Amino acid sequence: MSGEYVLPRKATPDSPLRLAVMISGGGSGLQALLKHQEGGTRLHATTLVIADSESAGGLSHARDYGVDFVAIPLPKDLKGDERRSAHEEQIMNIIDSKDIELVVLSGYMRILTSSFVSRWKGRLVNIHPSLLPDFPGAHAQKDALEAGVRVSGCTVHFVDEGVDSGPIIEQREVPVLDSDTVKTLSERIKEAEHELYPKVLDDISSGRVSP
Ligand code: GRF
Repeated sequence: MSGEYVLPRKATPDSPLRLAVMISGGGSGLQALLKHQEGGTRLHATTLVIADSESAGGLSHARDYGVDFVAIPLPKDLKGDERRSAHEEQIMNIIDSKDIELVVLSGYMRILTSSFVSRWKGRLVNIHPSLLPDFPGAHAQKDALEAGVRVSGCTVHFVDEGVDSGPIIEQREVPVLDSDTVKTLSERIKEAEHELYPKVLDDISSGRVSP
């Protein structure tokens, strides 16, 4: 059963929304967000960074900006569904302990279970490197190149129980060049992502977004 979307409260500069940002890799999106939040009066603040691996390079950005961070790898002693549930329980416990109001997936490469999603629905957003609904999944840039599209881009969306299928909040288009490789296209898309995500988070925090 899919639950209702419950949006976060409308924030004020005196009481910005408390964000947890979840990452798996280099965290260039996290870095752009932290830079944006540092750059003026904001309606949201990154309170916690969670990585699914101790070796996620993006943890260094949390350290540089003095933001609390934690690496929560999959528990080694469990398997399958039990392992996923135990992992998410650890994540939920720390999110609860920090009074987080919005969970921001920023290059987090694991699929969250429907029990996590239903609990956070409306307060759980993701950025994806394609113009959804085209090219969902883990190889969006490669799939776009193989399909021969001339335009790709990025999408910020609410997370639902499917894969990259929740309600779209906003998209940015990016040209695809004949000379593009997965790397060059990914880099061009990331530039757009780094502008779009902070802007959408401004909009959500000020109550300008609904699913
Ligand atoms: C971004 O392109 C994001 O859309 C995708 O993974 C990438 C993360 O990059 N899901 P980074 O770790 O923020 O540099």
